[in-house]
Amino acid sequence: MEILSERKNAESIRQKENVITLTRSDIYRGHLVLVNRTYTWRQMEDLIELHAMKNVSVYDTNLETMRLEKTCLEQLTALLEACNAKQDILIVSGYRSLEEQTELYETTLREHGAAFTSSYVARPGSSEHQTGLAVDVGLRTDEIDYICPTFPDSGVCQSFRQLAAEYGFIQRYKETKEAITNIAAEPWHFRYVGYPHSAIMEERNWCLEEYMEKIKQYHVHHEHVYVEAKDGRGTIEIYYVPIPQDMVRIKIPNGESYSVSGNNHDGCIITVYHGQGSECRES
Ligand code: DAL
Ligand code: ZN
Repeated sequence: MEILSERKNAESIRQKENVITLTRSDIYRGHLVLVNRTYTWRQMEDLIELHAMKNVSVYDTNLETMRLEKTCLEQLTALLEACNAKQDILIVSGYRSLEEQTELYETTLREHGAAFTSSYVARPGSSEHQTGLAVDVGLRTDEIDYICPTFPDSGVCQSFRQLAAEYGFIQRYKETKEAITNIAAEPWHFRYVGYPHSAIMEERNWCLEEYMEKIKQYHVHHEHVYVEAKDGRGTIEIYYVPIPQDMVRIKIPNGESYSVSGNNHDGCIITVYHGQGSECRES
C-alpha cells in the first residue's frame, strides 16, 4: 500500500462532476464509523442491512442470532476462502443488539468482575458489534470461550490475520493502542472498515481513532490522499467532509464509483475509485 501523494490538486483529476448531498444522518452510517466510549452508537439498526451467516462455520447454529452487515459478511467469507479456513475458523460473534450487549455486559460483570469486564466487554452503546461491522473469530476447538476466543499467531489464524487488510478488515484492539481504545488487546476481534482504509491503517500502524484524526487533515477543500488501488487498478482518492449544518453539497467526478461513510461524530469520509468503473458505491 503506497500513499502516492498527499498534495495532488483534486481538480487535476476531475473532469466533469456531479453534486451529491450529505445530511447529518450520513454521519452515523457507513463502514468507517468510529464507535467507542466517546462516540457511542445510535440505534439505527433499521439502516443496517444484516445478513445471516450462511456458508461459514458459526458458534451458534441459530442463524437469526448470527448476522453481519452485508458487505462485511461478503468480504469475511472471501477472506476465509482465501486462507482455506472455512472449517477451522469459527465465527464466534457478529452483530449484537443493544439488549444483547447489555445482557453480555451485565453477565460478565457479575461472573468476572469490573476489571475483566472493562477490558474485554464494551459498555452497552459503545460496542462495535452493534454496528454489524465487527466479528469475533476463533480457532475451532472443543471448548470455545465466547468473550475471549483462541486466535493464535500461527497456522490458519495467522494466514487470516495477514490477509485481513486486503479484504478490508483490521484487528481493532491491539496491545500497543490500549491507552487510546480503552480495550485490552483482542487478537480475535476484527472490524470491517473497507479497503484501502484497512491497508493504510495496517501499514501506518494506526488504530481507527488515530486514522479518523489523520483523515480530517484531508479536508474536501484542501489536499486529498491518493493511494494505488489493488493490483494497480487505478487510483483511490480519500478526503473528509465536515457536516456542521443540516446539509452539505459536494462535487464527485462524473462516472467514477465512490463510497461515503460517516465518522459517527461530525462528518463523512469520501472514497473515490478512479478508473474502476462507473457504479456508485455508497456505504
Ligand atoms: N469485546 C468488544 C470490546 C465488545 O464488547 O464490543
Ligand atoms: Zn468482538
